[in-house]
Amino acid sequence: MSSYLTVFIFGYACGIVLAQHSSKTLPDITDKNGGWCMMRGECGNDKLSCAYDGPPSPLINPEAVGILNQYCPFMVPGDQPSTCCNADQVFTFNKIFGFVKEEFTRCPVCFDNFISMFCLLVCSSYQSTLASANVTIDSFTKQKIVTSVDYYVARDYVDGMFNSCANVRTPYSNEKAISRMCGETASECTPENFLKFVGSKSNRLVTYDISFKETDKPFVRVGNKTFVPMNYTTTPCTDRCQCKDCNTTVCPPPPINMSVPKWKLF
Ligand SMILES: *[C@@H]1O[C@H](CO)[C@@H](O)[C@H](O)[C@H]1NC(C)=O
Ligand SMILES: *[C@@H]1O[C@H](CO)[C@@H](O)[C@H](O)[C@H]1NC(C)=O
Ligand SMILES: *[C@@H]1O[C@H](CO)[C@@H](O)[C@H](O)[C@H]1NC(C)=O
Ligand SMILES: *[C@@H]1O[C@H](CO)[C@@H](O)[C@H](O)[C@H]1NC(C)=O
Ligand SMILES: *[C@@H]1O[C@H](CO)[C@@H](O)[C@H](O)[C@H]1NC(C)=O
Repeated sequence: MSSYLTVFIFGYACGIVLAQHSSKTLPDITDKNGGWCMMRGECGNDKLSCAYDGPPSPLINPEAVGILNQYCPFMVPGDQPSTCCNADQVFTFNKIFGFVKEEFTRCPVCFDNFISMFCLLVCSSYQSTLASANVTIDSFTKQKIVTSVDYYVARDYVDGMFNSCANVRTPYSNEKAISRMCGETASECTPENFLKFVGSKSNRLVTYDISFKETDKPFVRVGNKTFVPMNYTTTPCTDRCQCKDCNTTVCPPPPINMSVPKWKLF
């Protein structure tokens, strides 16, 4: 009972809808009540992500809380949300993802869907159940630095997010925004190469390479660890954005022209 409840609260807090599962499958999640982090803070001269094996802590800087609330309000239930990120990381996040927000500005639901995976990876208090990291020692500072991350994500989320963003035009041209973030032209862009692009540190959204592990399973067991894939509930593009920014094959047909036929005017 208590273990299921923990997972339920976790799912709720993260905007994740979890399937019901017997508590037997959840050993590593439930023994870390309140969440657990595997990275936190910025390390070294290049401000890379520090590896950190410890509990989350409250984000107390009000400016940082406000920024996180702008990007992912579902992660800010109160004034001092428990997170695996610190204020510096939130400020960096804002600088970097502000540009992406601009690109998708014509369709805010696309950006909401998109950014949730980064908010959760960087700040979720349940970070260590979403992802794992490879770590190296920084030769100058001797700090532990995250070099790559395996991030477990639900296929439903990936497809929903991609479908809501694939056809969004940039604000200043008729070009599809995704064509600049895929390493492919928009028509060739797939969810997988989109994720590969945004998860590559060479594209500078993050300082480590993210290998997205897409799955349909509610839990993924790797060695002795259990991961719960990120499964943010996406909003369809057509719910709130103009049809020309959405998948036109699923747009409603144009309204029937109700204007009076010309012949009646004579
Ligand atoms: C760590 O690196 C190995 C070898 O490159 C890779 O197979 C593995 O997926 C990486 N794990 C994580 C958590 O990034
Ligand atoms: C558009 O919708 C169709 C029909 O649902 C689907 O097959 C196609 O993959 C979608 N394309 C994009 C880019 O979302
Ligand atoms: C993600 O959520 C949807 C419903 O919201 C559910 O059908 C699906 O099974 C979930 N996927 C995973 C991997 O948890
Ligand atoms: C899980 O495996 C790692 C190494 O693979 C080990 O260091 C750790 O002690 C194990 N944890 C448990 C709870 O067995
Ligand atoms: C509706 O029909 C009128 C008369 O044929 C035409 O002038 C007008 O452009 C049409 N409007 C739309 C939205 O198609």
